[in-house]
Amino acid sequence: MHIEKNIKSEIVQLAEARLPRYTSFPTAVQFSDAVGDNMCHEWLSALGPSDSISLYIHVPFCESLCWYCGCHTTVPNGYDRVAIYVNTLITEIETKAAAASNAGLVQHVHFGGGTPTFLKAVDFVRIMDALRAGFHVASDAEIAVEIDPRTIDESRLKGLIKAGVNRASIGVQDFNSEVQKLVNRIQPVALVENCVEDLRKKGIEKISFDLIYGLPGQNENSVRMTARVAVRMKPDRFSVFGYAHVPWFKSHQKILENSPLPDTLDRLMQAAAITEELTAQGYVQIGFDHFALADDPMTVQAEKGNLQRNFQGYTTDQATALIGFGASAISNFPQGIAQNETHLGRYHRLVNDGQLPTVRGVKISDEDQFIGTIITRIMCDMQVDLHEVATHFMRDVTDLDEACKKLDGLEKAGLLTRSGYLIKMTDRGRPFARNAAACFDPYLDTGAEKHSRGI
Ligand SMILES: C[S@@+](CC[C@H](N)C(=O)[O-])C[C@H]1O[C@@H](n2cnc3c(N)ncnc32)[C@H](O)[C@@H]1O
Ligand code: SF4
Repeated sequence: MHIEKNIKSEIVQLAEARLPRYTSFPTAVQFSDAVGDNMCHEWLSALGPSDSISLYIHVPFCESLCWYCGCHTTVPNGYDRVAIYVNTLITEIETKAAAASNAGLVQHVHFGGGTPTFLKAVDFVRIMDALRAGFHVASDAEIAVEIDPRTIDESRLKGLIKAGVNRASIGVQDFNSEVQKLVNRIQPVALVENCVEDLRKKGIEKISFDLIYGLPGQNENSVRMTARVAVRMKPDRFSVFGYAHVPWFKSHQKILENSPLPDTLDRLMQAAAITEELTAQGYVQIGFDHFALADDPMTVQAEKGNLQRNFQGYTTDQATALIGFGASAISNFPQGIAQNETHLGRYHRLVNDGQLPTVRGVKISDEDQFIGTIITRIMCDMQVDLHEVATHFMRDVTDLDEACKKLDGLEKAGLLTRSGYLIKMTDRGRPFARNAAACFDPYLDTGAEKHSRGI
Protein backbone atom coordinates (compact mmCIF):
# COMPACT_ATOMS: atom_id res chain seq x y z
CA MET A 1 0.00 0.00 0.00
CA HIS A 2 1.42 3.38 -0.96
CA ILE A 3 -0.08 6.61 0.32
CA GLU A 4 1.26 9.88 -1.11
CA LYS A 5 1.77 12.90 1.14
CA ASN A 6 -0.58 15.02 -0.99
CA ILE A 7 -3.41 12.60 -0.43
CA LYS A 8 -6.72 13.77 -1.85
CA SER A 9 -9.32 15.20 0.50
CA GLU A 10 -11.96 12.72 -0.67
CA ILE A 11 -9.72 9.87 0.48
CA VAL A 12 -9.46 11.48 3.91
CA GLN A 13 -13.24 11.79 3.96
CA LEU A 14 -13.66 8.11 3.11
CA ALA A 15 -11.18 7.16 5.85
CA GLU A 16 -13.20 9.20 8.37
CA ALA A 17 -16.52 7.49 7.58
CA ARG A 18 -17.90 5.68 10.62
CA LEU A 19 -18.50 2.11 9.51
CA PRO A 20 -19.06 -1.34 10.97
CA ARG A 21 -16.08 -3.71 11.05
CA TYR A 22 -18.27 -6.36 9.38
CA THR A 23 -17.22 -9.16 11.71
CA SER A 24 -20.81 -10.37 11.19
CA PHE A 25 -23.72 -9.55 8.93
CA PRO A 26 -26.15 -8.21 10.01
CA THR A 27 -23.91 -6.20 12.34
CA ALA A 28 -24.42 -5.54 16.06
CA VAL A 29 -26.40 -2.36 15.32
CA GLN A 30 -29.21 -4.64 14.11
CA PHE A 31 -29.36 -6.65 17.35
CA SER A 32 -32.60 -6.42 19.33
CA ASP A 33 -34.32 -8.26 22.17
CA ALA A 34 -36.29 -10.26 19.58
CA VAL A 35 -33.65 -12.96 20.12
CA GLY A 36 -33.53 -14.48 23.59
CA ASP A 37 -33.19 -17.67 25.60
CA ASN A 38 -35.76 -19.73 23.62
CA MET A 39 -34.47 -18.88 20.20
CA CYS A 40 -30.86 -19.52 21.15
CA HIS A 41 -31.95 -22.86 22.59
CA GLU A 42 -33.71 -23.73 19.32
CA TRP A 43 -30.62 -22.83 17.27
CA LEU A 44 -28.32 -24.90 19.53
CA SER A 45 -30.65 -27.90 19.34
CA ALA A 46 -30.77 -27.71 15.53
CA LEU A 47 -27.02 -28.36 15.24
CA GLY A 48 -26.37 -31.84 13.85
CA PRO A 49 -23.36 -34.19 13.67
CA SER A 50 -22.25 -32.78 10.30
CA ASP A 51 -22.14 -29.24 11.73
CA SER A 52 -18.62 -28.42 12.87
CA ILE A 53 -18.56 -25.83 15.62
CA SER A 54 -16.17 -23.35 17.19
CA LEU A 55 -16.19 -22.22 20.79
CA TYR A 56 -15.43 -18.74 22.18
CA ILE A 57 -14.95 -18.07 25.89
CA HIS A 58 -14.96 -14.49 27.16
CA VAL A 59 -13.00 -13.57 30.29
CA PRO A 60 -13.90 -9.96 31.19
CA PHE A 61 -11.10 -9.24 33.69
CA CYS A 62 -7.75 -7.43 33.53
CA GLU A 63 -5.04 -6.55 36.03
CA SER A 64 -5.21 -2.85 35.05
CA LEU A 65 -6.97 -0.79 32.42
CA CYS A 66 -5.20 0.43 29.26
CA TRP A 67 -6.66 3.86 28.46
CA TYR A 68 -7.25 2.96 24.81
CA CYS A 69 -9.12 -0.26 25.60
CA GLY A 70 -12.36 -0.85 23.71
CA CYS A 71 -12.90 -4.43 24.96
CA HIS A 72 -15.58 -5.61 27.37
CA THR A 73 -13.52 -5.88 30.56
CA THR A 74 -13.21 -4.74 34.14
CA VAL A 75 -10.52 -4.61 36.84
CA PRO A 76 -11.79 -6.74 39.75
CA ASN A 77 -10.84 -6.05 43.32
CA GLY A 78 -9.16 -9.37 44.16
CA TYR A 79 -9.98 -12.84 42.78
CA ASP A 80 -13.32 -13.64 44.52
CA ARG A 81 -15.50 -12.24 41.69
CA VAL A 82 -13.37 -14.08 39.15
CA ALA A 83 -13.77 -17.42 40.96
CA ILE A 84 -17.56 -16.95 40.98
CA TYR A 85 -17.48 -16.05 37.28
CA VAL A 86 -15.63 -19.29 36.48
CA ASN A 87 -18.35 -21.33 38.23
CA THR A 88 -21.09 -19.53 36.29
CA LEU A 89 -19.18 -19.97 33.05
CA ILE A 90 -18.97 -23.72 33.65
CA THR A 91 -22.73 -23.85 34.33
CA GLU A 92 -23.34 -22.00 31.05
CA ILE A 93 -21.05 -24.45 29.21
CA GLU A 94 -23.01 -27.41 30.66
CA THR A 95 -26.39 -25.86 29.78
CA LYS A 96 -25.39 -25.05 26.20
CA ALA A 97 -23.66 -28.42 25.71
CA ALA A 98 -26.87 -30.20 26.76
CA ALA A 99 -28.88 -28.13 24.26
CA ALA A 100 -26.33 -28.77 21.46
CA SER A 101 -25.89 -32.46 22.25
CA ASN A 102 -25.99 -33.49 18.54
CA ALA A 103 -23.43 -30.94 17.35
CA GLY A 104 -20.36 -32.14 15.43
CA LEU A 105 -16.64 -31.70 15.95
CA VAL A 106 -15.01 -28.64 17.50
CA GLN A 107 -11.94 -27.58 15.52
CA HIS A 108 -11.35 -24.16 17.10
CA VAL A 109 -11.51 -22.90 20.68
CA HIS A 110 -10.66 -19.27 21.42
CA PHE A 111 -10.24 -17.65 24.84
CA GLY A 112 -10.58 -13.88 24.58
CA GLY A 113 -11.18 -10.93 26.82
CA GLY A 114 -10.24 -8.98 28.72
CA THR A 115 -7.32 -11.13 29.67
CA PRO A 116 -7.96 -14.90 29.78
CA THR A 117 -4.60 -15.41 31.51
CA PHE A 118 -5.97 -13.40 34.46
CA LEU A 119 -7.51 -16.77 35.42
CA LYS A 120 -5.56 -19.00 37.78
CA ALA A 121 -4.17 -22.11 36.07
CA VAL A 122 -6.57 -24.39 37.92
CA ASP A 123 -9.58 -22.38 36.70
CA PHE A 124 -8.35 -22.26 33.11
CA VAL A 125 -7.98 -26.06 33.13
CA ARG A 126 -11.45 -26.50 34.71
CA ILE A 127 -13.04 -24.47 31.92
CA MET A 128 -11.23 -26.46 29.23
CA ASP A 129 -12.23 -29.73 30.94
CA ALA A 130 -15.89 -28.60 30.95
CA LEU A 131 -15.67 -27.81 27.23
CA ARG A 132 -14.15 -31.22 26.50
CA ALA A 133 -16.80 -32.95 28.63
CA GLY A 134 -19.66 -31.14 26.86
CA PHE A 135 -18.48 -30.99 23.25
CA HIS A 136 -16.53 -33.21 20.83
CA VAL A 137 -13.29 -31.23 20.82
CA ALA A 138 -11.07 -32.69 18.05
CA SER A 139 -7.71 -34.03 19.27
CA ASP A 140 -5.94 -31.67 16.84
CA ALA A 141 -8.24 -28.69 17.51
CA GLU A 142 -6.68 -25.23 17.58
CA ILE A 143 -6.91 -23.92 21.13
CA ALA A 144 -6.00 -20.25 21.12
CA VAL A 145 -5.66 -17.80 23.95
CA GLU A 146 -5.12 -14.03 24.16
CA ILE A 147 -2.19 -13.24 26.44
CA ASP A 148 -1.18 -10.05 28.22
CA PRO A 149 2.62 -10.50 28.46
CA ARG A 150 2.72 -8.35 31.62
CA THR A 151 0.71 -10.81 33.68
CA ILE A 152 1.65 -14.29 32.47
CA ASP A 153 3.70 -16.34 34.95
CA GLU A 154 5.14 -19.86 35.20
CA SER A 155 2.08 -21.33 36.92
CA ARG A 156 -0.36 -19.84 34.38
CA LEU A 157 1.85 -20.99 31.52
CA LYS A 158 1.78 -24.54 32.89
CA GLY A 159 -2.02 -24.28 33.09
CA LEU A 160 -2.20 -23.33 29.40
CA ILE A 161 -0.07 -26.34 28.47
CA LYS A 162 -2.16 -28.66 30.63
CA ALA A 163 -5.33 -27.32 28.96
CA GLY A 164 -3.85 -28.08 25.50
CA VAL A 165 -3.40 -24.49 24.31
CA ASN A 166 -1.44 -24.43 21.03
CA ARG A 167 -1.83 -20.83 19.80
CA ALA A 168 -1.15 -17.58 21.64
CA SER A 169 -2.03 -14.09 20.59
CA ILE A 170 0.03 -11.52 22.49
CA GLY A 171 -1.02 -7.93 23.13
CA VAL A 172 2.12 -6.03 22.04
CA GLN A 173 0.48 -2.76 20.92
CA ASP A 174 3.54 -0.41 20.82
CA PHE A 175 7.14 -0.54 22.04
CA ASN A 176 7.73 3.21 22.38
CA SER A 177 8.08 4.03 26.08
CA GLU A 178 6.45 7.49 25.75
CA VAL A 179 3.41 5.96 24.02
CA GLN A 180 3.27 3.25 26.67
CA LYS A 181 3.14 5.90 29.42
CA LEU A 182 0.40 7.85 27.64
CA VAL A 183 -1.81 4.77 27.31
CA ASN A 184 -1.10 3.33 30.78
CA ARG A 185 0.55 0.17 29.52
CA ILE A 186 4.23 -0.14 30.43
CA GLN A 187 5.65 -3.13 28.64
CA PRO A 188 9.40 -3.21 27.89
CA VAL A 189 10.69 -5.10 24.83
CA ALA A 190 12.49 -7.65 27.04
CA LEU A 191 9.22 -8.56 28.73
CA VAL A 192 7.62 -9.49 25.39
CA GLU A 193 10.80 -11.30 24.28
CA ASN A 194 10.76 -13.38 27.46
CA CYS A 195 7.07 -14.17 27.06
CA VAL A 196 7.62 -15.38 23.47
CA GLU A 197 10.65 -17.43 24.51
CA ASP A 198 8.77 -19.03 27.43
CA LEU A 199 5.80 -19.92 25.21
CA ARG A 200 8.06 -21.49 22.58
CA LYS A 201 10.07 -23.42 25.17
CA LYS A 202 6.85 -24.90 26.52
CA GLY A 203 5.74 -25.91 23.00
CA ILE A 204 3.28 -23.10 22.13
CA GLU A 205 4.84 -22.21 18.81
CA LYS A 206 1.97 -20.59 16.95
CA ILE A 207 2.25 -16.96 18.00
CA SER A 208 0.45 -13.88 16.84
CA PHE A 209 1.08 -10.22 17.83
CA ASP A 210 -1.49 -7.42 18.16
CA LEU A 211 -0.21 -3.95 17.22
CA ILE A 212 -2.12 -0.66 17.34
CA TYR A 213 -1.63 2.58 15.41
CA GLY A 214 -3.39 5.93 15.85
CA LEU A 215 -2.57 6.24 19.57
CA PRO A 216 -1.40 9.51 21.14
CA GLY A 217 2.37 9.92 20.88
CA GLN A 218 2.63 7.63 17.85
CA ASN A 219 4.00 8.81 14.52
CA GLU A 220 5.09 7.17 11.29
CA ASN A 221 8.62 6.59 12.56
CA SER A 222 7.68 5.30 15.99
CA VAL A 223 5.28 2.67 14.64
CA ARG A 224 7.90 1.69 12.05
CA MET A 225 10.37 1.07 14.90
CA THR A 226 7.78 -0.97 16.82
CA ALA A 227 7.15 -3.13 13.73
CA ARG A 228 10.92 -3.62 13.22
CA VAL A 229 11.46 -4.75 16.81
CA ALA A 230 8.38 -6.99 16.65
CA VAL A 231 9.46 -8.87 13.49
CA ARG A 232 12.75 -9.79 15.18
CA MET A 233 10.69 -12.07 17.44
CA LYS A 234 9.24 -13.82 14.35
CA PRO A 235 5.56 -14.29 15.25
CA ASP A 236 3.65 -16.17 12.52
CA ARG A 237 0.91 -13.55 12.37
CA PHE A 238 0.17 -9.90 13.14
CA SER A 239 -3.14 -8.15 13.71
CA VAL A 240 -2.70 -4.42 13.14
CA PHE A 241 -5.58 -2.41 14.57
CA GLY A 242 -6.36 1.27 14.01
CA TYR A 243 -7.12 2.72 17.44
CA ALA A 244 -10.93 2.91 17.74
CA HIS A 245 -11.71 6.04 19.79
CA VAL A 246 -15.26 5.58 21.09
CA PRO A 247 -15.36 7.67 24.32
CA TRP A 248 -19.20 7.78 24.31
CA PHE A 249 -19.03 4.02 24.85
CA LYS A 250 -15.75 3.68 26.80
CA SER A 251 -15.45 6.78 28.98
CA HIS A 252 -11.87 6.00 30.16
CA GLN A 253 -10.72 6.71 26.58
CA LYS A 254 -11.40 10.44 27.27
CA ILE A 255 -8.07 10.44 29.18
CA LEU A 256 -6.34 10.02 25.81
CA GLU A 257 -7.81 13.35 24.64
CA ASN A 258 -5.33 15.10 26.98
CA SER A 259 -2.68 14.56 24.28
CA PRO A 260 -3.17 15.15 20.56
CA LEU A 261 -4.51 12.11 18.73
CA PRO A 262 -3.01 11.43 15.28
CA ASP A 263 -5.28 12.82 12.54
CA THR A 264 -6.60 10.84 9.58
CA LEU A 265 -3.61 11.49 7.37
CA ASP A 266 -1.24 10.46 10.20
CA ARG A 267 -3.24 7.27 10.73
CA LEU A 268 -3.09 6.40 7.03
CA MET A 269 0.68 7.01 7.01
CA GLN A 270 1.16 4.94 10.16
CA ALA A 271 -0.83 2.02 8.73
CA ALA A 272 1.17 2.28 5.50
CA ALA A 273 4.50 2.36 7.40
CA ILE A 274 3.64 -0.79 9.40
CA THR A 275 2.47 -2.54 6.20
CA GLU A 276 5.74 -1.61 4.48
CA GLU A 277 7.86 -2.95 7.35
CA LEU A 278 5.97 -6.23 7.71
CA THR A 279 5.74 -7.01 4.00
CA ALA A 280 9.46 -6.19 3.57
CA GLN A 281 10.16 -8.97 6.09
CA GLY A 282 8.10 -11.57 4.20
CA TYR A 283 4.69 -11.17 5.85
CA VAL A 284 1.75 -11.33 3.45
CA GLN A 285 -1.08 -8.86 3.98
CA ILE A 286 -4.37 -10.62 4.68
CA GLY A 287 -7.54 -8.60 4.29
CA PHE A 288 -7.10 -5.08 5.63
CA ASP A 289 -5.56 -5.60 9.07
CA HIS A 290 -3.83 -9.01 9.27
CA PHE A 291 -0.40 -10.22 8.18
CA ALA A 292 0.92 -13.79 8.12
CA LEU A 293 4.03 -15.63 6.97
CA ALA A 294 3.81 -17.05 3.43
CA ASP A 295 3.40 -20.67 4.58
CA ASP A 296 0.96 -19.88 7.40
CA PRO A 297 -2.48 -21.60 7.05
CA MET A 298 -4.09 -18.15 7.05
CA THR A 299 -2.09 -17.09 3.97
CA VAL A 300 -2.84 -20.41 2.26
CA GLN A 301 -6.60 -20.10 2.97
CA ALA A 302 -6.58 -16.47 1.83
CA GLU A 303 -4.94 -17.43 -1.46
CA LYS A 304 -7.62 -20.09 -2.01
CA GLY A 305 -10.40 -17.58 -1.30
CA ASN A 306 -11.43 -19.56 1.82
CA LEU A 307 -10.80 -16.97 4.51
CA GLN A 308 -13.71 -16.17 6.85
CA ARG A 309 -14.54 -13.41 9.30
CA ASN A 310 -15.85 -13.84 12.82
CA PHE A 311 -16.03 -11.66 15.94
CA GLN A 312 -12.25 -11.92 16.45
CA GLY A 313 -11.56 -10.74 12.88
CA TYR A 314 -10.06 -12.88 10.10
CA THR A 315 -10.02 -16.63 10.65
CA THR A 316 -9.22 -19.87 8.87
CA ASP A 317 -12.15 -21.41 10.74
CA GLN A 318 -14.81 -22.89 8.41
CA ALA A 319 -17.23 -24.00 11.17
CA THR A 320 -21.01 -23.91 10.65
CA ALA A 321 -21.59 -22.28 14.03
CA LEU A 322 -19.71 -20.38 16.71
CA ILE A 323 -20.93 -20.81 20.28
CA GLY A 324 -19.93 -18.05 22.72
CA PHE A 325 -19.74 -18.33 26.53
CA GLY A 326 -19.38 -15.64 29.16
CA ALA A 327 -20.69 -12.12 29.65
CA SER A 328 -21.13 -10.26 26.31
CA ALA A 329 -20.06 -13.31 24.23
CA ILE A 330 -21.69 -13.65 20.81
CA SER A 331 -22.81 -16.89 19.14
CA ASN A 332 -23.32 -17.16 15.40
CA PHE A 333 -25.64 -19.81 13.93
CA PRO A 334 -26.84 -20.31 10.35
CA GLN A 335 -30.26 -19.03 11.51
CA GLY A 336 -29.04 -15.99 13.43
CA ILE A 337 -26.78 -14.26 15.94
CA ALA A 338 -27.26 -14.34 19.73
CA GLN A 339 -25.45 -12.18 22.27
CA ASN A 340 -25.11 -12.88 25.99
CA GLU A 341 -25.96 -10.40 28.73
CA THR A 342 -23.06 -7.96 29.21
CA HIS A 343 -23.76 -6.88 32.79
CA LEU A 344 -21.97 -9.33 35.10
CA GLY A 345 -24.66 -9.40 37.82
CA ARG A 346 -27.48 -10.05 35.35
CA TYR A 347 -25.34 -12.63 33.49
CA HIS A 348 -24.86 -14.57 36.77
CA ARG A 349 -28.59 -14.40 37.62
CA LEU A 350 -29.73 -15.69 34.21
CA VAL A 351 -27.26 -18.61 34.12
CA ASN A 352 -27.86 -19.60 37.73
CA ASP A 353 -31.65 -19.54 37.10
CA GLY A 354 -31.04 -22.30 34.55
CA GLN A 355 -31.57 -20.04 31.53
CA LEU A 356 -29.35 -19.28 28.57
CA PRO A 357 -28.03 -15.74 29.11
CA THR A 358 -28.99 -14.61 25.57
CA VAL A 359 -30.53 -11.15 25.68
CA ARG A 360 -30.23 -9.79 22.16
CA GLY A 361 -29.44 -10.79 18.61
CA VAL A 362 -30.80 -10.92 15.10
CA LYS A 363 -32.27 -13.54 12.76
CA ILE A 364 -30.44 -14.01 9.46
CA SER A 365 -32.81 -13.88 6.46
CA ASP A 366 -32.06 -15.30 2.98
CA GLU A 367 -31.44 -11.73 1.81
CA ASP A 368 -28.97 -11.22 4.71
CA GLN A 369 -27.10 -14.36 3.64
CA PHE A 370 -26.85 -13.08 0.08
CA ILE A 371 -25.59 -9.62 1.11
CA GLY A 372 -23.44 -11.11 3.91
CA THR A 373 -21.61 -13.29 1.37
CA ILE A 374 -20.83 -10.27 -0.82
CA ILE A 375 -19.56 -8.31 2.20
CA THR A 376 -17.46 -11.22 3.52
CA ARG A 377 -15.81 -11.81 0.15
CA ILE A 378 -14.90 -8.11 -0.17
CA MET A 379 -13.49 -8.04 3.37
CA CYS A 380 -11.59 -11.36 3.02
CA ASP A 381 -10.56 -11.53 -0.65
CA MET A 382 -10.41 -7.80 -1.42
CA GLN A 383 -12.54 -8.66 -4.45
CA VAL A 384 -15.93 -10.09 -5.30
CA ASP A 385 -17.52 -11.50 -8.43
CA LEU A 386 -21.11 -10.35 -7.97
CA HIS A 387 -22.25 -12.52 -10.87
CA GLU A 388 -20.91 -15.62 -9.15
CA VAL A 389 -22.52 -14.78 -5.78
CA ALA A 390 -25.87 -13.88 -7.43
CA THR A 391 -25.88 -17.18 -9.38
CA HIS A 392 -25.12 -19.13 -6.19
CA PHE A 393 -28.11 -17.53 -4.45
CA MET A 394 -30.29 -17.83 -7.61
CA ARG A 395 -30.64 -14.06 -7.75
CA ASP A 396 -30.59 -11.59 -10.62
CA VAL A 397 -27.30 -9.69 -10.47
CA THR A 398 -29.00 -6.52 -11.72
CA ASP A 399 -30.70 -6.36 -8.27
CA LEU A 400 -27.29 -5.06 -7.13
CA ASP A 401 -27.09 -2.20 -9.65
CA GLU A 402 -28.27 0.46 -7.17
CA ALA A 403 -25.64 -0.64 -4.62
CA CYS A 404 -22.96 -0.73 -7.33
CA LYS A 405 -23.62 2.93 -8.18
CA LYS A 406 -22.44 3.81 -4.65
CA LEU A 407 -19.00 2.42 -5.55
CA ASP A 408 -18.38 5.27 -8.06
CA GLY A 409 -16.53 7.50 -5.56
CA LEU A 410 -14.18 4.69 -4.51
CA GLU A 411 -13.48 3.85 -8.15
CA LYS A 412 -12.76 7.50 -9.05
CA ALA A 413 -10.36 7.76 -6.10
CA GLY A 414 -8.44 4.74 -7.45
CA LEU A 415 -9.36 2.56 -4.48
CA LEU A 416 -11.10 -0.13 -6.55
CA THR A 417 -11.51 -1.27 -10.13
CA ARG A 418 -14.58 -2.70 -11.84
CA SER A 419 -14.92 -4.94 -14.82
CA GLY A 420 -18.60 -5.68 -15.31
CA TYR A 421 -19.68 -7.17 -11.98
CA LEU A 422 -16.14 -8.06 -10.88
CA ILE A 423 -15.00 -5.63 -8.17
CA LYS A 424 -11.39 -5.54 -6.97
CA MET A 425 -9.85 -3.33 -4.31
CA THR A 426 -6.54 -1.87 -5.52
CA ASP A 427 -3.44 -2.20 -3.29
CA ARG A 428 -3.94 1.34 -2.13
CA GLY A 429 -7.64 0.64 -1.63
CA ARG A 430 -7.15 -2.26 0.82
CA PRO A 431 -7.72 -0.14 3.95
CA PHE A 432 -11.02 1.00 2.40
CA ALA A 433 -12.58 -2.47 2.07
CA ARG A 434 -15.12 -1.49 4.77
CA ASN A 435 -16.22 1.47 2.61
CA ALA A 436 -16.80 -0.85 -0.38
CA ALA A 437 -18.63 -3.42 1.77
CA ALA A 438 -20.84 -0.67 3.24
CA CYS A 439 -22.19 0.15 -0.27
CA PHE A 440 -24.06 -3.19 -0.16
CA ASP A 441 -25.29 -2.84 3.43
CA PRO A 442 -29.02 -1.93 3.35
CA TYR A 443 -29.08 -1.31 7.12
CA LEU A 444 -26.15 1.10 7.12
CA ASP A 445 -26.54 3.97 9.52
CA THR A 446 -23.38 6.04 9.64
CA GLY A 447 -24.54 7.82 12.83
CA ALA A 448 -21.50 9.39 14.49
CA GLU A 449 -21.87 7.45 17.70
CA LYS A 450 -22.55 3.95 16.36
CA HIS A 451 -19.24 2.88 14.90
CA SER A 452 -15.57 3.73 14.99
CA ARG A 453 -14.02 5.45 11.98
CA GLY A 454 -13.01 3.39 8.93
CA ILE A 455 -9.25 3.98 9.36
C1 LIG B 1 -8.61 -8.50 24.51
S1 LIG B 1 -7.23 -7.63 23.99
C2 LIG B 1 -5.84 -8.74 24.01
C3 LIG B 1 -5.39 -9.47 25.22
C4 LIG B 1 -4.88 -8.73 26.41
N1 LIG B 1 -5.99 -8.15 27.11
C5 LIG B 1 -3.88 -7.67 26.09
O1 LIG B 1 -4.27 -6.53 25.91
O2 LIG B 1 -2.70 -8.00 26.01
C6 LIG B 1 -7.45 -7.67 22.25
C7 LIG B 1 -6.77 -6.60 21.43
O3 LIG B 1 -7.67 -5.59 21.08
C8 LIG B 1 -6.93 -4.45 20.68
N2 LIG B 1 -7.66 -3.26 21.15
C9 LIG B 1 -8.15 -3.04 22.38
N3 LIG B 1 -8.78 -1.85 22.41
C10 LIG B 1 -8.70 -1.32 21.16
C11 LIG B 1 -9.17 -0.12 20.55
N4 LIG B 1 -9.87 0.78 21.23
N5 LIG B 1 -8.90 0.07 19.26
C12 LIG B 1 -8.21 -0.84 18.53
N6 LIG B 1 -7.74 -1.98 19.04
C13 LIG B 1 -7.99 -2.23 20.35
C14 LIG B 1 -5.56 -4.58 21.29
O4 LIG B 1 -4.61 -4.69 20.26
C15 LIG B 1 -5.63 -5.86 22.09
O5 LIG B 1 -4.45 -6.59 22.05
S1 SF4 C 1 -6.06 -3.93 26.07
FE1 SF4 C 1 -6.12 -5.96 27.01
S2 SF4 C 1 -5.07 -5.68 29.00
FE2 SF4 C 1 -5.55 -3.66 28.28
S3 SF4 C 1 -7.50 -3.21 29.31
FE3 SF4 C 1 -7.98 -3.99 27.23
S4 SF4 C 1 -8.33 -6.14 27.48
FE4 SF4 C 1 -7.27 -5.43 29.35
